[in-house]
Amino acid sequence: MEHLISCENVTKEETEEIINLAFKIRETIREGKKKFKALRGKCIINLFFEASTRTRTSFEKAGKFLSADVINISASASSVKKGETLIDTVKNLDMMHPDIIVLRHACEGACNTIIPHIDASIVNAGDGCHEHPSQALLDTMTIVENRENLEGLNVVIAGDIVHSRVARSNIILLKKLGANIFIFGPSTMMPRYPEALGVKVLSSFEEVAKIADVLILLRIQLERLNAKKVFPSLREYATFFGLNKNRLKMLKKDAIIMHPGPVNRGIEINNDVITSPKSVIFNQVENGLAVRMAILTTICGKKNKLLEELNA
Ligand code: CP
Repeated sequence: MEHLISCENVTKEETEEIINLAFKIRETIREGKKKFKALRGKCIINLFFEASTRTRTSFEKAGKFLSADVINISASASSVKKGETLIDTVKNLDMMHPDIIVLRHACEGACNTIIPHIDASIVNAGDGCHEHPSQALLDTMTIVENRENLEGLNVVIAGDIVHSRVARSNIILLKKLGANIFIFGPSTMMPRYPEALGVKVLSSFEEVAKIADVLILLRIQLERLNAKKVFPSLREYATFFGLNKNRLKMLKKDAIIMHPGPVNRGIEINNDVITSPKSVIFNQVENGLAVRMAILTTICGKKNKLLEELNA
């Protein structure tokens, strides 16, 4: 794996390797070990043009736990503010010989655009409405942890599907692993051709509750709606599509609830749901650190070195 741009380019075998490595990493971190030498001498630049809490912090911690040099750059504090372009920005950073640039950008395809201009590997930390592959890998790890086998599992993704890079990456990856994917939400937030994505559209919460083994709720992305009115009000969205205490009771006994974060409490998800035993939302965050350590190690070709440390 040279870059991580899209789940289209991640095979089932690569997914399993990353997740198995992440489980070992997580176990060792839980035992209290937080420093590994595997990426000593490597340099990782986190270049974020959009806000982030989980992805940015976990890539930073991942690099530091692996002993890489980590540099964090926010567009708001860089020469982008003076009008420098994305390509010029990454080309200048690439001249400082980083091994990996982790990029989050509001434009779909931003990562693909810069690859021809630089030598460093690129990790897509979310590009517009396109993809968020490390999120899909950590979501897959969380599902595997709870359900072991994804073959034939019914995964329902609910909410703002059309603007969601998390939905797109999860659909691609989870389908490769044999899951059945369903989507649910306002018709204005559904893809125009769901069949092209290989997903089925559900039309009521009753249908969702009946089949969902895994329910992934998505954040309403107000920043991508550009004042478009895709539903009458947030209150109406919460009434028809939000997961509340009563709807929680309708789900299968062993169903799990996921959300990539940040959550809009009281809109797509209620407080009672976040803290319910079915919720694995905070486990997703812990798994995110381990998965990102596994991704950085794999891209740097240091998996065996890290395994030696984990097995010591
Ligand atoms: N899930 C996710 O990408 O969260 P952040 O925007 O906080 O990184």
